[in-house]
This record gives sequence, C-alpha cells and structure tokens, in this order.
Amino acid sequence: MTKPLRIGVAGLGTVGVGVVKILAARRDFLAAAAGRSIDLVAVSARDPKKDRGVDLSNVRWEDDARKIASADDIDVVVELIGGAEGVARELVETALANGKHVVTANKALIANHGISLARRAEQHGVALNYEAAVAGGIPIIKALREGLAANEITSVIGILNGTCNYILTEMEATGRDFGEVLKDAQALGYAEADPSFDVGGIDAAHKLAILASLAFGREVDFDSVHVEGIEKITATDIKFAREFGYKIKLLAIATKTADGIEQRVHPALVPEGSPLAAVSGVFNAVAVRGDRVGLLILEGRGAGEGPTASAVLSDLVDIARGLVMPPFIVPTSHLKKPEKAGIDRVQGAYYLRFLAVDRAGSMADITRALAEASVSIERIVQRGERKEGDTGRMPVVFVTHKTDESSMRQALAHLEKHQEVAGTPLVIRIEEGESR
Ligand code: NAP
Ligand code: HSE
Repeated sequence: MTKPLRIGVAGLGTVGVGVVKILAARRDFLAAAAGRSIDLVAVSARDPKKDRGVDLSNVRWEDDARKIASADDIDVVVELIGGAEGVARELVETALANGKHVVTANKALIANHGISLARRAEQHGVALNYEAAVAGGIPIIKALREGLAANEITSVIGILNGTCNYILTEMEATGRDFGEVLKDAQALGYAEADPSFDVGGIDAAHKLAILASLAFGREVDFDSVHVEGIEKITATDIKFAREFGYKIKLLAIATKTADGIEQRVHPALVPEGSPLAAVSGVFNAVAVRGDRVGLLILEGRGAGEGPTASAVLSDLVDIARGLVMPPFIVPTSHLKKPEKAGIDRVQGAYYLRFLAVDRAGSMADITRALAEASVSIERIVQRGERKEGDTGRMPVVFVTHKTDESSMRQALAHLEKHQEVAGTPLVIRIEEGESR
C-alpha cells in the first residue's frame, strides 16, 4: 500500500462527528477500497472541551482551524464549519493555495465562490470535492460528472432541502405547527446554523445553482435564482392542496431555455401520485432529464449525520485513489458565462389563498379583477363559519387555469389594491412535475 492520506477535519458538529465515526468504523474497508489508509491527523472546532461522543485522544487539536490549511502533515482539509465567508472561506482558500486537496459540505461557499475556488484548485493541481454540499447522501455530483457525462442535460428538478421537506411532511401527517416541527428538524441536525436559510429557500437555491452549473456547463449563478420559501404555508394550505389532489413541496427547478438558464426555488403543488409527491420526511430527490438517458430520478436522505458524512467519505476515497478532476466537470476555462432566463415566461396554473370580505357580490368583484388580467379560474372554494364579532373575512382559495407568470403578477397587483381582499394573497405555483 502507498503512504496514508492524511486529513484534517475543521468543524466537529453534525457532519464532522459523522465523518470521524465512519473513518473509525470502516477504516480497514476504506483502506482496501482506496489502496491506502485514510488517517485523521488533526481536528478543530470552537469548543475544545465539548464531549462529542467520539474518541479523539490520538488526534491533534488545533484551536485555530486555519492552521490545518498550512500544516505540513496534512494532505486534505475537510471543511465542515459552514458559511460563505469567514473562517470557512479563508481555510479553503489557504488550503488550495498551499497545494492541499479540499473536501467540503459547504453549499453556501461553493454557490458563492465555487468558480474562483475551482480556478485555484486547478492552478495547484488539487481536488475541490463537494458531494455532500448537494442533496446529502445522494451521489448527484458523481452522477452528473461521471454517469451522465454523455448527455446534454435539459432540466434538473429537485427537492433539495431536507428541513423543508421534513416540515411539510410532518405538518401534513400530524397537523403540527410550523415552528414546533422546525425545532425537531434542528434537534435532528438537519437545519443550517441559521434555519432561515432552510425555510427561506436560500439553502435549496445554493444547491440548485451548483447543480445548474454542473448540468449546463456554465459558471455558478446563484444571484439569478428566483427564491421563495415555505414560511407562509399553513396547515390550511396543506389541507386544501390534499383536497385538490396535490402535495406541497419546496421545489428547485433549473431549465435550459432558448433565452438562457431559468433557475427557481419555490413551494409548489405537485400531483399526488407523481414521483416528487412521494418524497417525504428528510428525503431529497433529484430528477435529471438528459437527451440520451431520458429521465433519471435519484432519491435519498438529504440531511443529517450519516447521509452527509457518507458523501464526504466518498470524496475522500476518490482523492485517496488519486482521482483529481476539475471541480465543475470541465476546466473552469471551458465553462460558459451565466445567462439568466427570467421566470416571467413560465407558464402554469396557480393556487391562490386570501381573506375576502364575506358579503354579497365580493366574489364577483374578485373574479372580475382576475379576469381583467386574463387569468381564468378553474375552481373556487370558500370555507369557514362566520362567527359573531369576527371581521367577516373568510379564507378563499382559487385554482387558476394555466396562465403565464406575468399575467398572474398583474392579477395580484389588482387584488392587493382590492377592498374585498385583506392582506397579501398567498400564491403557490402548481407544477405537474416530471412524468416518466
Ligand atoms: P454544525 O453542527 O453547526 O457544526 C459546525 C461545526 O463548526 C461545530 O463543530 C463548530 O464548533 C465548528 N465551528 C464553528 N465556527 C468555527 C470556527 N470559527 N473555527 C472552527 N470551528 C468552528 O454544522 P453541520 O450541520 O455539521 O454543518 C457543517 C457544514 O455541512 C455546513 O456547511 C452545512 O451547510 C453542511 N451540511 C450540513 C448538513 C446537515 O445535515 N447538517 C448536510 C449537508 C451539508 P463547536 O462544535 O465547538 O461549536
Ligand atoms: N439544512 C440542509 C437541509 C442540510 O435541510 O437540507 C443538508 O444540506
């Protein structure tokens, strides 16, 4: 066997501890698979006294994670701290500049700085691997880089945030409150340090921007992703969706169009019985359409200790085997510049929920406002009992026929000014999703 691959792990939280556990538990198998042992030489985190439930007695502790990037006895820096800036970015930049391979699970870093980091990795002939950054345990980066290299990819549609999918699934199954279920997701180690990145759709947008770059051979273009989160989805919406034959999912969609690349993350109603509707709990799924392979759907756990650490280890084994590939499949000099296609041209049906004044004629006024924007209505549901002393406002749900995004926006502008409507209407796109 050749000499060991010496690694330093910065960050010993959910993912870091998972990596340490697998390195210990599968040491012999990994050494046989890689042709050399993978030795944990140094670790770093904020609190040296915290009991992390793993044996680190033979491993050097560094108070300053950045020292790992300069240590002579480290070949690979494994960055598991998180965040697009600060220590994580400094650590990765220094490691690459010092000719060390980098493995990271940090989608914020790759979505914001992936191309400049990849250039640095290429200049120094080292690997920058980030399988764990997208869709947890699903080997989607490997699939795009290796298994699907023969294909021209036309679309990528995914459920890319485990926390949101867990919240939506639990709310539907148990009727529990959004905030309460989010706390569970945090306790299970699914959520980001700042969970607003999860529920606000930003985490899924980071992942989508990375996938879109890999799929379409363009530089990562995170700023062009249209992002909406799940914060405004209520148990009422989930109930209505079910009644209409749909489930609500946070979808991430990237499509190659004649005008450029369209990237969007938003909640959507997807038909019950469609492949994405069946993805529940912390599971993620990615549906990729290629010109040769057709539709390919990968599903697996998208967050948590085991699945994420599993992806980190696959990157380490590749490096131990001597595989150093361009981080974005092709060298950065071959990547095309970003070209954004806005979402105005998107066509689809919509679910609209708002509070309407409960009086004769109000519904007619609202439907007229929609008609003025050329939005036609497929279904209207009004629910709720008027109680003495209440404001007389009832939740009303409209499902529209297929229309375009710009007409829908025009309709919303009309509705928001309308006296019959209290507050801003909630709008959820209806996506028919991928069919086999
Ligand atoms: P976490 O549980 O919050 O752990 C973060 C770790 O970083 C902690 O050990 C913390 O130290 C350490 N840390 C924070 N600031 C530091 C600093 N300045 N110097 C050294 N160490 C520092 O986070 P995580 O869930 O493991 O996530 C780590 C990364 O993986 C993030 O980029 C995240 O987006 C990504 N990721 C997470 C998951 C998941 O399911 N959790 C899945 C995919 C990707 P202390 O422990 O001492 O506080
Ligand atoms: N917070 C992320 C999620 C972790 O819930 O999907 C996995 O990237």
